[in-house]
Amino acid sequence: MGYDYEEFKKDVYRITNINLDLYKERQMKRRIESLIARKGFSGFEDFFKGMRQDEELLHTFVTYLTINVSQFYRNPAQWENFDKEVVPYLMKNFGKNLTIWSAACSTGDEPYTIAMILAEHMPFADFNVIATDIDEEVLKFAKEGIYSDKSLVDLPKVYLDKYFTKLDEHQYKVSDDIKKRINFKKHNLLEDAYFSNVDTIVCRNVVIYFTDEAKDKVYAQFRDSLKKDGLLFIGSTEQILKPRDIGFELLKTFFYKKI
Ligand SMILES: C[S@@+](CC[C@H](N)C(=O)[O-])C[C@H]1O[C@@H](n2cnc3c(N)ncnc32)[C@H](O)[C@@H]1O
Repeated sequence: MGYDYEEFKKDVYRITNINLDLYKERQMKRRIESLIARKGFSGFEDFFKGMRQDEELLHTFVTYLTINVSQFYRNPAQWENFDKEVVPYLMKNFGKNLTIWSAACSTGDEPYTIAMILAEHMPFADFNVIATDIDEEVLKFAKEGIYSDKSLVDLPKVYLDKYFTKLDEHQYKVSDDIKKRINFKKHNLLEDAYFSNVDTIVCRNVVIYFTDEAKDKVYAQFRDSLKKDGLLFIGSTEQILKPRDIGFELLKTFFYKKI
């Protein structure tokens, strides 16, 4: 047997710690094949050799593979619920020192959105956001905190005025007060140990790429990470079918409470 996708997956795991067996196969394989063709390689083996010789190509592969589109205030109705109902719930149940985990945070739009909303309700010192992603490139970008107006179209103007400095016609920089509340870290949801005593986990638009088994395991680990009555906030195309079976109950669409 020649070098095929199975071999490629093993080699990718060896050098990146990304286990492609835990991602939906058809979708992932198709994506990778299209990248291989676009970069002018003849197949999986040729492409893998290319990545061994060219670190830039390896970074391109990881970033492409992990699909990191994001935006500030993505799906505004849910952030309005977060602002009006969820934050008051968290303050009532957990008081000060809130810890929110933005898991698979991509370029930082999501954890910065969380911090800006929380800052409208409480002093900066009363909350921390842990922001994690598997991809070091997006984390580097996130730490810079510079965004184009395209990422900011959905963000209400009050936040833009209060927490950004305009650098030029299209570029904005996040304020240091907000930046300081966020702790960016590399973390692989399919491999690494999870945080504990978290009040809320925001994990949106990543488990859709995982197999059902991998997704179930991630949700079980989220449950263990959360304090009792803590919340899990999921993406607008996602749903937990039988939340009680895994220790959650629906609080509001897209928000689940640990029971
Ligand atoms: C589509 S983005 C979602 C960003 C943000 N949560 C949002 O909804 O706007 C998906 C992110 O998941 C990350 N990702 C993919 N697999 C991951 C894994 N196993 N562990 C942690 N992050 C992962 C990618 O690097 C990417 O940044």
